Amino acid sequence: MNVLPVSQESIQKGASILKSGGLVAFPTETVYGLGADAFNPLALAKVFEVKDRPRFDPLIIHIAAIETLEKVADLSKLSEDARKKLFLLAENFWPGPLSIILPKNENIPDLATAGLTTAAIRFPDNEAAQKLIALSTGAVAAPSANPFGALSPTKAEHVRQGLGEKVDLILDGGAARIGVESTVLDISGESIKILRHGGTPREAIVEKVTDTVTDTEEGALLSPGMLKSHYAPHASLSVHTDKEIVEIQNEGSSCAFLFFDEKTKDAWLCKQKSKNTAIIKVLSKTGDLIEAASNLFKMLHEIDESGADKIFAQASPNHGLGEAINDRLRRGAN
Ligand code: TXA
Ligand code: MG
Repeated sequence: MNVLPVSQESIQKGASILKSGGLVAFPTETVYGLGADAFNPLALAKVFEVKDRPRFDPLIIHIAAIETLEKVADLSKLSEDARKKLFLLAENFWPGPLSIILPKNENIPDLATAGLTTAAIRFPDNEAAQKLIALSTGAVAAPSANPFGALSPTKAEHVRQGLGEKVDLILDGGAARIGVESTVLDISGESIKILRHGGTPREAIVEKVTDTVTDTEEGALLSPGMLKSHYAPHASLSVHTDKEIVEIQNEGSSCAFLFFDEKTKDAWLCKQKSKNTAIIKVLSKTGDLIEAASNLFKMLHEIDESGADKIFAQASPNHGLGEAINDRLRRGAN
């Protein structure tokens, strides 16, 4: 049984699990979160695997001290105006059910934000959550702890029913006080934009911070990770089956090959007629889907930085995290 009531001891245990790359479901004042160390790409990949989503969505990064903000966000990229809004919001609503979109710090792996250059940051108002975060690395990435398509969990029992033994530990802190997710705000524009309504009402934001609060058009930014533009690398990308990719001849350093596994890379190398060196990356030598997912965004960035103008990518096996990897590749294809 992996459910433990909240106590000093169970929280300590949860923090060690997080630090060693495991997953811990924990209570917050809104809903239960499925937590992973926000700095560890392999742990982040496990979150997506356990959620069983056919795509990668950007996660909320939870902190438990305002000083940690600088480790997860890059505040130097904020405009003077956005900085003012951030400080007012933090002063009035943190800790609390409010997530603020900020430029992401480069310490945070791209997988956490599904390739976006911004991250949603939240300081939850729940003692157990705060202790857990503080005893871990200080930043815990967590979506709501429900499988894809299910309702957000407001009790440990919901998490147990939905995710069961796939989570290393479920901390039971009783029923969530608020029971709806946090409000998500974009502060980069002139007015504050509500991307998702939630536990912090619009009226409170109007009262404390600014009277120009707008909604994003229904559905427009509800899942910003889905926007195609966020996914496209600069180079043109095409996605191929194992059989197709081994037949593609390399044309030198303007070409990059992104293999799913070493086996296919070796088969491709055998078929090369020219000795030109292309940029070659392998998502997982052994073909492990979790490792592959943890490398995907990083390797696409590396390829982009290398200046290649064509990327030939091998599709992953289309199950488990492979579905999300393929979705990401197809979105990047142009
Ligand atoms: O109350 C909550 O927010 C809960 C608890 C666990 O903290 N978490 C939660 O996470 O609801 P999740 O993953 O189920 O929802 C995250 C929301 C999504 O709507 C996502 O699109 C948005 O936050 N989001 C995350 N990162 C974003 C970003 N960089 N830009 C815009 N929206 C973002
Ligand atoms: Mg959710």
